Amino acid sequence: MALQKMTTQKIIEKKKRKEKIIAITSYDYSFAKIVDECGIDLILVGDSLSMVILGYSNTLSVTMDEMIHHTKAVSRGVSNALIVADMPFLSYKINIYEAVRNAGRFIQECGAEAVKVEGGAKLSPIIEAMIDADIQVMGHIGLTPQAIYEFGGFLVQGKTIEAAKKLIFDAKSLEKSGVFSIVLESIPWQIAKLITQSIDIPTIGIGAGSYCDGQILVINDMLGLFTDFKPKFLKHFGDVGESVRNALHSYKNEVEEGVYPGREHSYEYPQESIEKINEWFENVDIEEEFNKKTRNTTISS
Ligand code: KIV
Repeated sequence: MALQKMTTQKIIEKKKRKEKIIAITSYDYSFAKIVDECGIDLILVGDSLSMVILGYSNTLSVTMDEMIHHTKAVSRGVSNALIVADMPFLSYKINIYEAVRNAGRFIQECGAEAVKVEGGAKLSPIIEAMIDADIQVMGHIGLTPQAIYEFGGFLVQGKTIEAAKKLIFDAKSLEKSGVFSIVLESIPWQIAKLITQSIDIPTIGIGAGSYCDGQILVINDMLGLFTDFKPKFLKHFGDVGESVRNALHSYKNEVEEGVYPGREHSYEYPQESIEKINEWFENVDIEEEFNKKTRNTTISS
């Protein structure tokens, strides 16, 4: 069956039909194209770009310009999945004007169809202003990596009664502000289940158990390409890192041993022309020919 363009409305309908929503991150054209071909519903150009692609130790370092650059590349590879761009640190919390302007850049310049912001009830005025500007917004609560210094690290959230209640109220507040879905990151599954039951928009979990309406993973993590650390929730669905290492060793060996490139990877000259070239080559003084040619083509001053 031909894949159909995913929209925020269709994402919400999937929850109503009790169909799981499948989301994954991407950061470049080639991966986005494969992800899209596999029928994934939602592609997030995550600010995890900062760590898994740019090599920073957290997500705070990636800039608007870098996110714009990668979101453009992703959208060139996508025909069906919903493209959501992650708003980087400080791009939406300084003031409402900057928040709407920056969110709008992802839509206007990059082909994103929605943006994601990290935070709870406090973000309501910002989210409402974006939605007033016809920008679709996804929420993100629990372990919001842009707040790691506030949390003291990449730590599971919502563990106390008060913290769990706050997460439930934050989810309710985000829904009232008009977000079309909420990422729940690194929270106990029972709290994620309560949140999922208490709102009409979908929850997309990462480290939030199986009761969420959908799941998201960082593509470089689930493929075994980023191995700096492995959270408890992460499952490696492939070992692409190992495949890449094997391929590179083979390439190195074959070039060193003269196996690659073979004739099948080389361009062929017609036999009769090569004989003429060979004959010319045997009789010519290359040095003299070269000097004649360069004298004739030198521009006189
Ligand atoms: O930046 C990211 O990849 C994310 C996902 C983990 C949800 O925010």
